[in-house]
Amino acid sequence: MAKVTVIGSNMIDLTTYVNRIPVEGETIEAPEFEMGFGGKGANQAIAAARLGSEVNFITTVGNDSFGNEQIDNYKKNGIRTDGISIGHQSSGVAPIFVDPTSDNRILIIKGANKELTPEVLDDKQYLIKDAGLLVLQQEIALETNYHAIDLAQQYGVPVLLNPAPANDHLNIDYVSKVAFFTPNETELATLTGMPTSNVEEIKSAAHYLIDRGVGNLIITLGSKGALWVTKDHDEIVPGMKVKAIDTTGAGDSFIGSFAHYYAAGEEIPLALRHANQYAAMTVTKKGTQKSYPNAEKLNTMLSDYAEKI
Ligand code: ATP
Ligand code: RIB
Repeated sequence: MAKVTVIGSNMIDLTTYVNRIPVEGETIEAPEFEMGFGGKGANQAIAAARLGSEVNFITTVGNDSFGNEQIDNYKKNGIRTDGISIGHQSSGVAPIFVDPTSDNRILIIKGANKELTPEVLDDKQYLIKDAGLLVLQQEIALETNYHAIDLAQQYGVPVLLNPAPANDHLNIDYVSKVAFFTPNETELATLTGMPTSNVEEIKSAAHYLIDRGVGNLIITLGSKGALWVTKDHDEIVPGMKVKAIDTTGAGDSFIGSFAHYYAAGEEIPLALRHANQYAAMTVTKKGTQKSYPNAEKLNTMLSDYAEKI
């Protein structure tokens, strides 16, 4: 069975669907609001679990009612909760604004996610050592991720680092230790200081990191799919054409599903093709985790889509 360990954040998503963003000093009405479970770490863990991976999630939830609801949500989705701690602060929350073009703007208030320190990992490292893949993002302290990378290296576990949200202070020495580094174009530009406005520029920036030791660069390209770059190979794995309703959490659904398919033994190009399909299905529905299908629902959604085109 595919075994994936995710270390990262959990949030409560407060999503407002807007006709437009108000200008300074203006009050306008928005048509719709939805609350749901989110956070980049949690989203990735949920996607992998819904597809059938055995998932250990190491996170810190808030000491409020949201924290208990988060834990119930993981249990309902079959995620192992031994890695979950209850912090001393409120839960992390994410006010999100989605416009009619399906694009989003997100604020994050980390709350208890700040309490996921390197010391917490020391007590939970037994959840890393048997993983087929360790998955990290950047809504927790960079030092915690660095420690996770060191522990994974000690146990010979490959690491996928998804550098979202972008952080100027990310230490390139740690990036060079991971098997998979998965930025979007903006995150790649932030880390390398290089332009990434077309595929050739993206490839050059990717090689800057490959030359420093990263095994596989996977750059997500929105509706265009993903670009996979290694030392001597590059390949665009095209996305699926769908009608996007809400792209929030598309990146997380891509990473979580890729982690599942890779840990299940698929070769990288096939795992990427499947991750593109999974992520494309999620953008056709509202919300983050709410839009992530399980394996059975995914098959139905894909065949419904195939019939329409
Ligand atoms: P976000 O931060 O909004 O979660 P991201 O910038 O990290 O997203 P994207 O590159 O926008 O990541 O999207 C991730 C993946 O989701 C893409 O590689 C693709 O597979 C899928 N995807 C995103 N948007 C679309 C779309 N409009 N149509 C089809 N697939 C999409
Ligand atoms: O990537 C989407 C996620 O970013 C949302 O679920 C929100 O919680 C923020 O963490």
